[in-house]
Amino acid sequence: MTRLFSLEYARSLDAADPLRRFREAFLFPEPAGPGPVVYFTGNSLGLQPRGVRKAVEQELDDWARYGVEGHFKAATPWVSYHEVLIPPLAELIGAREAEVTAMNALTVNLHLLMASFYRPTPNRYKIVIDPNAFPSDRYAVASQLRFHGYDPDEALMIAPADEQGRLDHPALYRLLEEEGPRIAMLLMGGVNYYTGQVLDMPTITRRAHAQGIMVGFDLAHAAGNIPLALHDWGVDFAAWCSYKYLNGGPGGVAGAFVHQKHLGRADIPRFEGWWGHDKASRFRMPERFVPLPTVEAWQLSNVPILLMAALRPSLALFQQAGMERLRAKSLMMWDYFYALLKDIGDPRLEVITPLEPEAHGCQLSLRIREVGHPAYEALTRADVYVDWRSPDVIRAAPVPLYNSFEDIYHFAERLQRILKSL
Ligand SMILES: Cc1ncc(COP(=O)(O)O)c(C=O)c1O
Repeated sequence: MTRLFSLEYARSLDAADPLRRFREAFLFPEPAGPGPVVYFTGNSLGLQPRGVRKAVEQELDDWARYGVEGHFKAATPWVSYHEVLIPPLAELIGAREAEVTAMNALTVNLHLLMASFYRPTPNRYKIVIDPNAFPSDRYAVASQLRFHGYDPDEALMIAPADEQGRLDHPALYRLLEEEGPRIAMLLMGGVNYYTGQVLDMPTITRRAHAQGIMVGFDLAHAAGNIPLALHDWGVDFAAWCSYKYLNGGPGGVAGAFVHQKHLGRADIPRFEGWWGHDKASRFRMPERFVPLPTVEAWQLSNVPILLMAALRPSLALFQQAGMERLRAKSLMMWDYFYALLKDIGDPRLEVITPLEPEAHGCQLSLRIREVGHPAYEALTRADVYVDWRSPDVIRAAPVPLYNSFEDIYHFAERLQRILKSL
């Protein structure tokens, strides 16, 4: 056991953490047992910021006070409510404001964007996804292929994986060289939900574009986790949810990105609705659709105000903390976590997330051989929130906005005890 593996040492790291005050802005579940709760499932459902209740109540009050007039008279008028989310979201994903909006849910947005950017031709129709892609993405892509008359067994390509199930980048690049002219689109999780691997999004985009392939990313596990620069990387489209690292609440409103180069193009088809129509004439209800010049042209319906209200406090916290500082703390937390796991020294325990800092975010995916599920159940009983992925992986995500180094110490100490008993 090294000196790092002590409560005192963990507390000294917290004392030196410039972001430690942000923990107070969040509500943690109550512990069932004597120890403090360790909440490492911010990669699944982020905690509730204390400010959410007031933000949602504001809209309930405005609804009570103004009824339908709230569309124009609410403190933040509902008719343009989503616009307040755009600047902080654009900052988080590294985009121009015209390229970003908040709408719908993640899988819905992926479909809407694929309706525009998956444009198969008889020679070029295949779609490449990442190994261990989130199942919903796989279903979405397979159904798009079928919708266009293709057989997913033939037209859906899974990019090559290494022995841990992570994307093998050099092998992907070889695939793009060999199969490029047959591939219409590449859709990948920017951060893989299972392994926690951060993909080299700029290089993948460049290599795919060199072959004439459209590039989209599912940023569910990337937004609010790692710094992103979608505009500069030239990514064609992206979507993400807000209930994980962005703490927008269960079923929270999702985000969508379309690169500037595709905005205002008449040759890109789109499914359309009145919220994508020109703001000045929307309520005159003209017969012809006039698209907004921004990604808002992809909006369909008037927006879910209560969900958007719930997201605002967290976005404000992100702006105060700053992604650069959050990333610096996240990397320190990851290294500390990894060092303690090595200290445990159990041969059944293995980290399948890449060790290189540029290839991981907050999450550590731990493979626990033989006793994975009993260990997971024992952790849960010990007030540790992590999640289980069959057959043997526990995902744990210390998030820099509200987790502490002390949380990591408690996790490791409880896991060590549990593994000794199994
Ligand atoms: C990587 C990834 N993609 C897609 C989804 C599906 O999201 P939604 O249910 O919001 O459409 C999830 C949900 O956890 C996810 O983790």
